[in-house]
Parts: sequence; C-alpha cells; structure tokens
Amino acid sequence: MKLGRATRFTLVAMLAGVVSLVAMAAGRVPQPALEVDKTTTCVAPPAEMRRTHMDLLKHRRDRTVHAGVRGGKTSLETCIDCHAAKTGAVTGRPDAFCEACHAYAGVRLDCFECHQSQRGAKLSGAQGPSR
Ligand code: HEC
Ligand code: HEC
Ligand code: HEC
Repeated sequence: MKLGRATRFTLVAMLAGVVSLVAMAAGRVPQPALEVDKTTTCVAPPAEMRRTHMDLLKHRRDRTVHAGVRGGKTSLETCIDCHAAKTGAVTGRPDAFCEACHAYAGVRLDCFECHQSQRGAKLSGAQGPSR
C-alpha cells in the first residue's frame, strides 16, 4: 500500500506525539532505582523474574505449607538475603527492593505483615514465620 505524503506526515506526527507522551509519563514518576549486587545471579533470569516472581513465591509457599519443604534457594529468606543486601530490608524505605517496584507499579504487598523483610532475620521459634 502506498501512502500519500499528507497521510505519512500525519502518521509521523501522531507517533511523535505518542513518544513524547510516554517520555512525559516516565519523567513524572521516577523509575524505581533497584540496587542489586550484580556479582550475584538471581534464581532465574531477571526478565523472567519480573514477570513470574509472584507465581514462584506462591508455589513455594504451597510447597512449604502442604509438603513441608523448607530452606533452599527459592525460599523467601533467600530472596531477602540478596535483595536486602544494600538496603538492609526489602520494604520500609522508598529504595527498598520489593517496595520500590511495588510502589511504582501500584501493587500492594501484604506479605511482610507476617514475614520478616530484614536481611538475616532468623525464625523466632514457635512464634510463626519470621522470614
Ligand atoms: C543470589 C542472589 C539472589 C537471590 C537468591 C535472588 N535474587 Fe532476584 N535478583 C538478583 C540479581 C543480581 C538481580 C538483577 C539482575 C540484573 O538486573 O542483571 C535480580 C533480579 C530480580 C528481579 C527483577 C528486578 C528488575 O530489575 O526488574 C526480581 C523481581 C527478583 N530478582 C526477585 C527475586 C525473588 C522473588 C527471589 C527469591 C525467590 C530472588 N529474586 C532471589 C539476585 C538474587
Ligand atoms: C521490577 C518490579 C518488581 C519487583 C522488584 C518486585 N515486584 Fe512483586 N510484583 C510486581 C508487579 C508489577 C506485580 C503485579 C503483577 C500482576 O498483577 O500481574 C507484582 C506482584 C507480586 C505479588 C503478587 C501480589 C498479589 O496480590 O497477587 C507478590 C506476592 C510479589 N509481587 C512479591 C514480591 C516480593 C516479595 C518482591 C521482593 C523480593 C517483589 N515482589 C519485587 C513488580 C515487582
Ligand atoms: C497471615 C500471615 C502470613 C501472610 C500475610 C503471608 N504469609 Fe507466607 N507464610 C506464613 C506462614 C505461617 C508460613 C509457613 C512457615 C513455615 O511453616 O515454615 C508461610 C510460608 C511462606 C513461604 C514458604 C517459606 C519460605 O521460606 O519460602 C513463602 C514463599 C511465603 N509464605 C510467601 C508469602 C507471600 C509471597 C505472601 C504475600 C502475598 C505471604 N507469604 C503472606 C504466613 C503468612
């Protein structure tokens, strides 16, 4: 299909408009600065983690609660060990790993009402989860 010059011009102008709108939106809400120690590697490639970390965590929780599987590299405690390495905790401050991105994405995270968000926090005996 051949487009007339006017049509082409309109399309280009529209595209430019969209691009600058996106740029403006990105400018208003600062992207979360995710501080991660890049000398380590995540349990899966970051692009995959971005999309599937919630499924991984829920699957893991079910395996713990129903099958008694604890410890190992996909435990919540392990995520926190790496992801709180720079900030001490994964929530509780604007640059904390889980919180920064969730605030940006507008997704509420209620896990840390029960689970510890701090690095190196140990289980508190029979008091329930502290990780
Ligand atoms: C051994 C350290 C380590 C562990 C354990 C770990 N991660 Fe990661 N994670 C990383 C690193 C490093 C990156 C960033 C890689 C990059 O950007 O190149 C990352 C990236 C991510 C990202 C994507 C962030 C982005 O930039 O978009 C998510 C989400 C994530 N991890 C969640 C988790 C969860 C949930 C767990 C526990 C199941 C976990 N990670 C365990 C080191 C770790
Ligand atoms: C790179 C951005 C990013 C990072 C970092 C991140 N999340 Fe998320 N998370 C999201 C987004 C976006 C969603 C919503 C996805 C959807 O609704 O499809 C989500 C959803 C979730 C959910 C499901 C919530 C629900 O109500 O179903 C859980 C649980 C979760 N994240 C836990 C974590 C934990 C724990 C960490 C830190 C270890 C973390 N996330 C780090 C972006 C992130
Ligand atoms: C009402 C309290 C409560 C809330 C809220 C809660 N959990 Fe849990 N979670 C528990 C308990 C109790 C266990 C079992 C701990 C055990 O038996 O070792 C558990 C276990 C887990 C485990 C497996 C243990 C491990 O070390 O990996 C994961 C993963 C997990 N929860 C993730 C989540 C996520 C993600 C959220 C938020 C969407 C969440 N939990 C919210 C109480 C809670």
